[in-house]
Amino acid sequence: MIKPESIEQLKSAVDIADVIGNYVELRRTGASLTGRCPFHEERTGSFSVSPSRGFYHCFGCGASGDVIKFVQEIERIGFNEAAQKIADWYNIALEYESGEMPKRRDPRPLEALKRFFINELWQNGEILGYLQKRGVSRSSIERFEIGLALSGAAQIDMLSREKIPLPLAAEAGVVAVDEKGRHYARFTNRVMFPIYNPQGQIAGFGGRTIADHAAKYINSPQSGFFDKSRLLFALNFAKDAIAKQKRAIVCEGYMDAVMLHQAGFQNAVATLGTALTETHLPLLKKLGEPSITLSYDSDQAGQEAAFKAAKLLCARGFGGAVALIEGAKDPAELLEAGGSEKLTVCYQNAVSLARFVIARIARAAENKDAAFARMRQFLDTLAPFAREEAAAFAAAHLGCNPGRFRRSAFAPIAAAPFGAKSDRAELTLIKTLALNQALYENMVDYLNAALFAAHADLFAAIGDEKRLFALIGDENIKTLSPDEAKDAICKLLMFFYKKELKRLRVEGRIEAIKEVHRMIDRLKNGGLAPFKRF
Ligand code: UTP
Ligand code: MN
Repeated sequence: MIKPESIEQLKSAVDIADVIGNYVELRRTGASLTGRCPFHEERTGSFSVSPSRGFYHCFGCGASGDVIKFVQEIERIGFNEAAQKIADWYNIALEYESGEMPKRRDPRPLEALKRFFINELWQNGEILGYLQKRGVSRSSIERFEIGLALSGAAQIDMLSREKIPLPLAAEAGVVAVDEKGRHYARFTNRVMFPIYNPQGQIAGFGGRTIADHAAKYINSPQSGFFDKSRLLFALNFAKDAIAKQKRAIVCEGYMDAVMLHQAGFQNAVATLGTALTETHLPLLKKLGEPSITLSYDSDQAGQEAAFKAAKLLCARGFGGAVALIEGAKDPAELLEAGGSEKLTVCYQNAVSLARFVIARIARAAENKDAAFARMRQFLDTLAPFAREEAAAFAAAHLGCNPGRFRRSAFAPIAAAPFGAKSDRAELTLIKTLALNQALYENMVDYLNAALFAAHADLFAAIGDEKRLFALIGDENIKTLSPDEAKDAICKLLMFFYKKELKRLRVEGRIEAIKEVHRMIDRLKNGGLAPFKRF
């Protein structure tokens, strides 16, 4: 069992939008984010995530909960497993009730293989020559602990010699098991790059084929300890420089990162053969939200990846720019040809993220109207000031009036609907009615905002999901069965009519008093009475 305090800590430490953004494409709409619900088929975006409240809710299928519930449901795993998974992603240590700590990954197989690979490389003139030809210096080979994996059998032998159990090596992802249950080495005939987590512990490897294998690069398999969407190659070396310069270079490849560091760009990191995603961002944010220079390959795929990464960074409030390499396929190739000054100039001339996105939208769009619509969509993901600046650029680009990009108004989300006078019974009933249209319609004769002494405004907002978002997303407020809802309405009517009775007595309105008594009798007998004012 994980300690409850530890669960609470976990929930407050992680950003629910960050976790869900891993599975669902989310767009910011005011204080919340919306997207397509992953729990039911839909084309509209009924799925809403509120980072401030730590809840998600689907207006379509009713799925809702906190970050742990989300991971449980989407991964179909248990509560503890989901909590542990999230904790691993964020490198948060969970506290278990006495003596139940789950075992951390044993670093021995990774460390042993790393040393073994390094040894192999330094004994292999041919591959050392290959790296030299690619411009990698001896000191870079040492610093990045670049190695060489040749035969698999030699690796298995070494592990046995070092008395490292093969199942342990399998757990570390360096050994795999075939159908017959035999262990075999996962990396063969590859130049090996150890990959470290931000805490400086080895997490796995990336390996480049030296035998023209169809998979040019492979990485350690995905696991709780090696999650390529939460690791950046060379971050262990770049951390300090990034924090100091408040600037990071993000590139695509291992070789790019090695060559950049070698050329003095100490703030360079690379994604591990994946796009830059939401889940990478906390790694960078932690270093003081540096401005990001995207330095991707100059080919079509690289530019497309830069486009996506730029949009993501903009939407998450990062500043930065996109650098376009000219005369080489990637930074490594430019540096191999001795172009460190060219690269400096290229980084100086990089185009701001938002301008890059806007220019690319303009180029790709079929016509001006399509370009306008897409630019506007992009602008709506930006914070107010960034938006204004980008809107001016977009308007100039399209040759239209910047006023056309003015933000469309949207209904404000009820910020704090449950004030001091909050009434749980009322909230429960309102939530039930909001989520059950048919019930609401059946009951409409018996209902009125005047019945809700504390939350008349929320009752009036039924049908306006945005205004009721906080209520619907609040797990502490349950919903009622139709029978329970009917009872709840009876109680409210009873309370209302008893109050009416007092007033009518003061006013001396005998006929009305008689009628109210009849209403109260009906309610006492378990029936409903229509809402009526006297
Ligand atoms: P590139 O194909 O641009 O590789 O992929 P590169 O780094 O320029 O390769 P070299 O210079 O020929 O050695 C960029 C990155 O994409 C990932 C790797 O992380 C690589 O560094 N990748 C590429 C893979 O994961 N698998 C692949 O098969 C290819
Ligand atoms: Mn490349």
